[in-house]
Amino acid sequence: MRAMSSDDAVKQAVLQAIPPELSGMVRSVSMRDGVATVIADAGGLGRSAAAQLQRELEEAASPVAGVNEVRVALMADKVQRQIVVIGSGKGGVGKSTLTANLAVALAKSGRKVGVVDADIYGPSQSVLLNAADTKLRAEGKMLIPHESEYGVKMVSMGQLVEAGKAIAWRGPMVGSALGQLMEADWGETDLLLVDLPPGTGDVQLTMLQKFKPTGAVVVSTPQDLALIDATRAIDLFRQAQVPIVGIVENMSGYQCPSCGEVSEPFGQGGAEAAATAIEVPFLGHVPLAMEIRIASDDGKPPAASEGALGAPFAEIAAQLQQWLGQSAMNYTG
Ligand SMILES: Nc1ncnc2c1ncn2[C@@H]1O[C@H](COP(=O)(O)OP(=O)(O)OP(=O)(O)O)[C@@H](O)[C@H]1O
Ligand SMILES: [Mg+2]
Repeated sequence: MRAMSSDDAVKQAVLQAIPPELSGMVRSVSMRDGVATVIADAGGLGRSAAAQLQRELEEAASPVAGVNEVRVALMADKVQRQIVVIGSGKGGVGKSTLTANLAVALAKSGRKVGVVDADIYGPSQSVLLNAADTKLRAEGKMLIPHESEYGVKMVSMGQLVEAGKAIAWRGPMVGSALGQLMEADWGETDLLLVDLPPGTGDVQLTMLQKFKPTGAVVVSTPQDLALIDATRAIDLFRQAQVPIVGIVENMSGYQCPSCGEVSEPFGQGGAEAAATAIEVPFLGHVPLAMEIRIASDDGKPPAASEGALGAPFAEIAAQLQQWLGQSAMNYTG
């Protein structure tokens, strides 16, 4: 039998020094040249509980004779995070409104969801999710997402720059800003909804190349011109091999708040017909309603309320959830 080396003896002493309530989480201890390396399983622990585990392990091992230094490595469950981008060919069709409300509806149904406001030139999520006065903290190089009152975590350029300040950035800066938002400390969040700027520019390309979205939702208003633009956005996603979850028709049908009569300022059903024509699923209509605009500007997403205006968002969210479930089952990578 091999004689116990001094490293082995110190290692045994470290193992004994670890309190029984922590030893179940310890996967291995190794000793070399006075350095004790403790590997522990921090799966399922939040950030502060993991930091506490690390501290307690260090405190347990460092007094052991023969230990000069303790290195604790925590293994976390790798969260399989799904990424859904919300895009449109044209500006002002309601991407940001839809993103915020889908996130709120999904959070209500128990999903751990985060919103990334990738509209670096014109961020709006901090207003929509009532976080206009918040600033983002960073720990080390990682941004800590803001926890909105609606159960949705979020990061937005709007929380990094002063309101109303114009941002004139060049391509590479856009890429690194987007990287910081995407790689924030999302913790358990397993779904990110990304609110894209309009069109098919730098942010979209960086997003598609660097972060490989699970799927894309395309928003359009019912009129022809918007639909032509929507088709362009769909082409971009298809070229990048991002699966299209479907098209949402926003601002379809206007109910007059005083007489109740429904009119169709932009026509109706155009997006649904276009979706069928280009063989893309149709996810639903969101009506044009003054209350949606007012509530949104006020940081109160209609999806958070029990009112009728939350219903279309809840229905679209349910379809998205189902699509994501299917996509996760097909995931082989
Ligand atoms: N269904 C709706 N009914 C009424 N107003 C709406 C509706 N959807 C969006 N709006 C309003 O339209 C405006 C544009 O919406 P939003 O900012 O969501 O569009 P966007 O596509 O993100 O725009 P941009 O391209 O500038 O990022 C906002 O004032 C919003 O409140
Ligand atoms: Mg927007």
